[in-house]
Amino acid sequence: MEEKIKIPQYPPAKILKAVEKLRYFLIRISRKLAPANVNIMEMVQGFYVSRAIGLAVKLNISDYLHNGSKSISELALLTNCHEESLYRMMRMLASQGIYIEKKSRVFANNNLSRTMLDKDDTMHYMISHQVNGFNWSMYGELEYVIRTGENAFKKVSGMELFKFLEANPEKNDEYNKAMTNSSVMLGYAILSEYNFKNAKRVIDIGGGHGVLLSLILKKHKHLNGIVFDLPHVVNQANQIFIKFGIENRTEIISGNFFESVPSNADIYLLKSIIHNLTDIQAIELLKKIKSVLPVNGKILVFEPIIESNNGRYSFAKLFDVQMLVGTAGGKERTLDEYKDLFKKSEVKLKRVIPTAAPFSIIELT
Ligand SMILES: C[S@@+](CC[C@H](N)C(=O)[O-])C[C@H]1O[C@@H](n2cnc3c(N)ncnc32)[C@H](O)[C@@H]1O
Repeated sequence: MEEKIKIPQYPPAKILKAVEKLRYFLIRISRKLAPANVNIMEMVQGFYVSRAIGLAVKLNISDYLHNGSKSISELALLTNCHEESLYRMMRMLASQGIYIEKKSRVFANNNLSRTMLDKDDTMHYMISHQVNGFNWSMYGELEYVIRTGENAFKKVSGMELFKFLEANPEKNDEYNKAMTNSSVMLGYAILSEYNFKNAKRVIDIGGGHGVLLSLILKKHKHLNGIVFDLPHVVNQANQIFIKFGIENRTEIISGNFFESVPSNADIYLLKSIIHNLTDIQAIELLKKIKSVLPVNGKILVFEPIIESNNGRYSFAKLFDVQMLVGTAGGKERTLDEYKDLFKKSEVKLKRVIPTAAPFSIIELT
C-alpha cells in the first residue's frame, strides 16, 4: 500500500512568528560574539555542508538508517562508497547536527537527517533540486549573471527551464517532487490563515502534482478542485489525489496558461508562479484569469514579499537571487511592485495576509 502523506502540524502563526523573531535575534547575537573573519568563514563553509547534504540524499543514507543505526562499513557497502571518505563526510555532517555518531563509526538518524528520507512530505527532492543538479551548476555562473543581467539556467542547459524539464523526464520528476516537498511544508500557512468556507471550486494554476490543492480539499470537505499545469507535469497528479483520498472531488486539466486558463472556479491559486515571470508575462496571466473570474471570485497569489527590513534576514531577498540566477526575468517583488503589477493587470488588491511562513497570501478580485 502507498504510504500516506503526513500533513505537518504547526503551532499558531503568531507563536511561530514570535519564535522566528527570537531565533534571528539569537543568530545576530551569536554573530556578534564571534570575530568577523570567523563569521564570514563559517558562512563561506556553508557550501561544504550543502554539498554533503546533497550527496547524503543522493546516496539515500537516511533511508538506509530508517530502521536503525548502521556502521560506516555497512553504509559504505550499501552505497558503494569508499569507507574512510564516507566516514569523514558523515563525521562532519554529524558535527553540524545532521545524523548522530552513536558510538565510534556507527551512525543513526535524527530529526534533521529524517528530513532527507525519500518521501513526499520530507525535503528529499527539494535538497536534490537545490544542490545536486542544474541549480548547483547555475551558481557557478553567478558572475556571468551579475555582469550580463542574463540568467544562468539558459547558459547551463541551453534552454528555458520548463522546456528543459519537458525534455528531461528524470529532472522533471525531481523538480515536481521538489515542489511537492515545498508545498507540503508551506501549505499549512495557507490553510491556517485563509477561510475557504464560502468557496465551491478551487483551481491551482501551475499546481504541479496537486499537493497544495490536496491539502486544501482534505481540510475542506465541501470543496471541489482542479489542478492545471503543463501536460508532462499534471500527468502525475492523480497519484497524489489518491494518497489524500480526494480523487472523486478533483479534476486534472493540462494546458499552457499563456494560451488559456480554465473557467468555472471561484478561487484561483497562484503559488510560486508570479515570481517566475517577468512583469509583462505576469500581467498577461493575471488578465487572463481576471477575464474568467466570476463576480465574487478571488485570485490568491502566494509569494514572499520583499520588505525594507534594514538588512535583517529576509527569505524573500535570498530567494530573489535564486530567481535572478535561474529564471528569465522572474523576481521576488516589494508590495509597491506588486501594486503596480496589479494595477496594470486590472485586478484589485483586496488584502495581504501575512502567514507563519515567509510567504504572504495576496487576495485579488
Ligand atoms: C515553481 S513551480 C510551482 C509549482 C506549485 N505551484 C508549487 O508551488 O508547488 C511553477 C509551476 O508552473 C508550471 N508552469 C510553468 N509554465 C507554465 C505554463 N506556461 N502553463 C502552465 N503551467 C506552467 C510549472 O510546470 C510548475 O509546475
